[in-house]
Amino acid sequence: MKRKILVTSALPYANGSIHLGHLVEYIQTDIWVRFQKMRGHECHYVCADDTHGTPIMLRAQKENTTPEQLIERMHTEHLSDFTQFNIEFDSYYSTNSEENRILAETIFARLSAANLIKIRQVEQFYDPEENMFLPDRFIKGECPKCHAKDQYGDSCEICGSAYDPIELIKPRSAISGVTPVRKSSEHYFLGLSECATFLKGYATETHLQPEAAHKMKEWFEQGLKDWDISRDAPYFGFKIPGTEDKYFYVWLDAPIGYMASFMNLAKRLSLDFSEYWDPGSQTELYHFIGKDILYFHALFWPATLHYAGFRTPTQIFAHGFLTVDGEKMSKSRGTFITARSFLDHFNPETLRYYFASKLSDHIEDIDLNFENFISRINSDLVGKFVNIASRASGLIHKFFNGKLAAHLKDSSLLETLSNASSSIIAAYEGREYNRAIREIMQLTDLVNLYIDNNKPWILAKSKDSNNQLHEVLTVAINAFRLLTLYLKPVLPEMAKKIEQFLQIPPLSFKDSHTYLLNHSIAPYEHLIQRIEANKISQLLQANKENLTPQTQHDSKKKAIPSISIEDFQRLDLKVAQVVKAETVDGSNRLLKLTLDIGSSKKTVFSGIRSFYTPESLVGRLVVVVNNLEAKKMRFGTSEGMILAAGDQDIFLISPDTGAKPGMKIQ
Ligand code: MSP
Ligand code: ZN
Repeated sequence: MKRKILVTSALPYANGSIHLGHLVEYIQTDIWVRFQKMRGHECHYVCADDTHGTPIMLRAQKENTTPEQLIERMHTEHLSDFTQFNIEFDSYYSTNSEENRILAETIFARLSAANLIKIRQVEQFYDPEENMFLPDRFIKGECPKCHAKDQYGDSCEICGSAYDPIELIKPRSAISGVTPVRKSSEHYFLGLSECATFLKGYATETHLQPEAAHKMKEWFEQGLKDWDISRDAPYFGFKIPGTEDKYFYVWLDAPIGYMASFMNLAKRLSLDFSEYWDPGSQTELYHFIGKDILYFHALFWPATLHYAGFRTPTQIFAHGFLTVDGEKMSKSRGTFITARSFLDHFNPETLRYYFASKLSDHIEDIDLNFENFISRINSDLVGKFVNIASRASGLIHKFFNGKLAAHLKDSSLLETLSNASSSIIAAYEGREYNRAIREIMQLTDLVNLYIDNNKPWILAKSKDSNNQLHEVLTVAINAFRLLTLYLKPVLPEMAKKIEQFLQIPPLSFKDSHTYLLNHSIAPYEHLIQRIEANKISQLLQANKENLTPQTQHDSKKKAIPSISIEDFQRLDLKVAQVVKAETVDGSNRLLKLTLDIGSSKKTVFSGIRSFYTPESLVGRLVVVVNNLEAKKMRFGTSEGMILAAGDQDIFLISPDTGAKPGMKIQ
C-alpha cells in the first residue's frame, strides 16, 4: 500500500548558524525521508526557519538592520548549508509568513472558543531604560544558590540549579546593564491543566519512544501548569488579534510553522491540506526533534492541535545531543563546528555516514569521536565499499569491453545480499540506522571475501579461465550495486555517481531482487578520498578562529589589496574635537557626537556607548573621516565616522596633544 507521509524536522532559530549538533537531526530526518521515497511512498519533508522572538529583534537592532532583512539573510544561509549536506526539503519556509499568521490566528480563535484561553496578570522584570520586559535569558545576576556571579535569569551554569529570575541576587538587564524593576501586565494562557485527560491518553508509547513516555509520566505527576502564550511589545512576531501590544510567544507559532510550510507546499503541488490535517486523517505525521524540546512537542503541541480541531502527530521521534570527543561542544576548544566550516574541510557525505553509523531509535547522546570518524570513512567507505568497484571495473574494461556477463552459474552471494533487504528496510523504518550500517558492512565484508577467494587478478592471467573471470567480476559489480542501493538513503550523492558509473536509472528498494546482466558499465571514476588526520586539527583551528573579532578574521581570510598614494589621498582625514556627546533614545549602542573640525561642525553617530561615557569624551581630540558619504539612520543623519581600533573592544584614535581641530591628516 502506498502510504502518505508528512515529516518535519524542528525549525532552526533564525538567529544563529547551522552547526554539527543541528545536523544530527536534519541528517537523521533526511535519511528517513529518502528511505520512504525509495520505498515508493508519497512522503513530504517540510521545515522552516523559526524567525520570531526577542533575540532576533535585538540582534537586528545591534546590526542596524530590520528583523525582516536579518531573517531573509539567515534563510538563504541556512538553506545553502542544508542543500550542501544533501538535506532535501520539499519545502523550507519561514514562520514569518502569511500562511503562518492566518493559521496561528485561526488556532488561537478556536482555542478561545473552546474556553481554553485565560487572561491573567503576570509580574516580570522590566528594563526601564529599554522600555521592555526582559526574557529570562536577558537578565543576569548572582546565583541565589551558589552565589556564582554573572548567571542567567533561569539557571546557573556553575551549580546547575534552576530558579525564577526574581530570586537572582543583584539582577541586571543584559541589554542595558541597568537594574530591572518589577512590573505586571496581562498575559494570555493556554489552560493546559484542563487538557490533562486528553494528554494522558495521547502521551503513551503509541506516539512516543518509551523513554519519552516515561518522562511524560514524571511531568504529569508534577502537575500540568498553564502555558503563557503571549508576550508584550516590543516583540518581533504576530500581534494577537484584538490587542494593541500583545504578541504570540514564539513557541506558539513555531510548530504551527510546520503546517504553514506544508500549506505552501500543498499550494505548489495541488495537495489537499485538510487530507493531512483534519481529525481522523489517514495520512501519517512525524516530527523529528531533539530531546530538549520534547515538552513543547509532546504536551503543548498535541493539545493545541486537538483542541483547535486538527489531527495530532502519529509519532514524535526524539534524538539525543551531539558531543565532540566525549564533551559538550565548546567554542574555546574549537569543537563548536559550523556546517560551513565542515564543508570547507570534508565531503559532507562523510558526516552523513558517520552519524548514520551512530544513530539509533533511542534518545541517547551521540559522540563525534574524530579517531573513530577517520577510521569509519577510511576503512568502511574507502577500504571496503568503494574498493569493490575500483578492483572489478578495471578488469571488466580490460577484458570484456566494459560489459557484464549474460548469465551467472552461481549467484548465491547476490541472493544473500538480496535477502538482507527486509532486515535493512526494517532497520531504516525503525530509525536503527546503526544496525542498517552494521548489516550493510557485514555484507560488504562478504563481498570482499568472495573477491579474495576467487582471485580475479589470477584468473586474468590465463585465457582458460575467461568465463570464470567474467562471472566473478559480474557478481562483484552486482554486489556493489546492491550495497549502493542499501546505502543510498545515507549517501545520495555518491549513489548518484555510482548510478552513472553503472549506467542505470535511479535505484529504489524494488530493485533489490534484480541483477544487472549483459549490461555495459562506464569506466570507474574516483568516488571518495581518504581522510588525512591533519584535516581534523585544521577544522578545529578554523572553528577557534571563528571566535576572534570579525574584522580580524575577515582580513586574515581576504588579503587587503594595496592602494596607490592617490587612492589614499581621496580620504579626507581631519583632527576633530568632541564638543558635545549625548546618548541616543532608543539605542543602547550609539552616542551622538558633535565635532568641531576647525571651520565647521559635524554630527556623527558612533557605536561606542558601551565603551565610553559621554562625559569622558567631551573635549577629546579624535580623527574623523570627513568626506564619508552622509548616512541616514533611524535617529538622524551621520555625517562622517571617527576612527577607532578593535572590534569587540574599542580604542579611539587620538592625535598627540598640540594638534588642532581641522588639521589635515596625511
Ligand atoms: N526553534 C526551536 C525549534 C522549534 S520547532 C517548532 C529550536 N531551534 S534550535 O535551532 O535551537 O534547534 C533546532 C533542532 O536542533 C532542535 O531539535 C534541537 O534539539 C536540535 N539541536 C540543536 N543543538 C543540538 C545538538 N548539539 N545536538 C543535537 N541536536 C541539537 O529549538
Ligand atoms: Zn549556582
